Amino acid sequence: MGFWKSLWRWPPRWRWLLIPLGGWLALLMGMVAWAGFNGVMHATSTNEFCYGCHIGTDTVVEEYQASAHFSNEHGVAATCADCHIPHEFVPKLITKAKATADVYHQLVGTINLENFESHRGEMAEAIWRDMASNDSRACRTCHDPTRWEPALQSVRAQNSHNPTFWQEKGMTCIDCHRGVAHRLPR
Ligand code: HEC
Ligand code: HEC
Ligand code: HEC
Ligand code: HEC
Repeated sequence: MGFWKSLWRWPPRWRWLLIPLGGWLALLMGMVAWAGFNGVMHATSTNEFCYGCHIGTDTVVEEYQASAHFSNEHGVAATCADCHIPHEFVPKLITKAKATADVYHQLVGTINLENFESHRGEMAEAIWRDMASNDSRACRTCHDPTRWEPALQSVRAQNSHNPTFWQEKGMTCIDCHRGVAHRLPR
């Protein structure tokens, strides 16, 4: 009995404090990691971040800056991320993870001002497919058809926005509205 007892002695009382202390430390480290993660997620969603690579290698930034989605009479604008990065947590993570491949392409110069037009078609097609498959989710975060006033829209828009006209055909925003921020591929 004396032998077993010598293996385990209750620690002095003050050491019990270390247990909650460990808990607080773990919590603190978790908070710092979470803040860092959010910081990275945020920093990689700014226009400046996108400009860093897309100015000088293609012409999408300049075209966006000439569009109504960059500036208009209301001063309400869409950022690159608003249209290209999902808001929902998991799809956002997937998009960001996939985009890390672009770092490689940027470094080796896969796309440049000379060959951009010849690659543009494939990239646009992929984006259109994606938007058609998610019912133009990105567009709908700002444009909500349950809130627009048809009477204030042009006659052409009113005719086309009649839901029975397009929902029955399985159409979505991107089927009619391409090139809303960039020139269309040739
Ligand atoms: C590290 C450089 C870099 C940064 C930063 C960057 N891109 Fe790109 N991006 C590229 C390259 C290079 C390509 C061409 C991809 C390829 O060659 O496959 C590309 C392609 C794209 C495409 C078309 C193909 C696709 O994957 O859908 C979109 C859309 C795009 N980028 C949007 C953005 C947005 C939005 C941002 C900012 C949140 C951004 N990019 C930031 C380098 C970058
Ligand atoms: C971050 C919010 C936001 C997102 C996301 C967004 N838009 Fe817009 N959209 C706007 C604003 C703001 C205007 C300008 C309204 C004005 O001119 O007063 C606009 C204007 C438009 C116009 C009319 C002007 C033009 O360029 O022809 C169309 C069409 C349009 N958006 C379609 C789309 C489509 C399609 C998508 C998805 C690919 C989309 N929008 C995504 C906010 C957004
Ligand atoms: C069947 C084709 C079609 C579909 C689908 C469609 N639109 Fe349109 N939209 C149009 C046409 C045509 C116009 C008028 C363009 C013009 O007058 O130059 C228009 C105009 C607009 C405008 C500008 C309104 C104005 O009067 O200034 C916005 C914003 C817009 N659409 C957003 C959307 C969004 C968001 C969706 C998806 C929820 C969508 N549209 C679905 C065809 C469509
Ligand atoms: C209003 C939504 C919207 C905004 C804002 C927007 N894009 Fe796009 N982007 C699109 C759509 C839709 C396409 C698919 C082609 C098309 O319809 O123009 C596209 C295509 C692209 C492509 C593929 C090449 C091409 O032209 O098809 C790249 C690269 C790209 N965008 C990057 C960016 C960057 C970088 C920004 C910010 C400077 C940005 N986009 C802002 C909607 C947007």
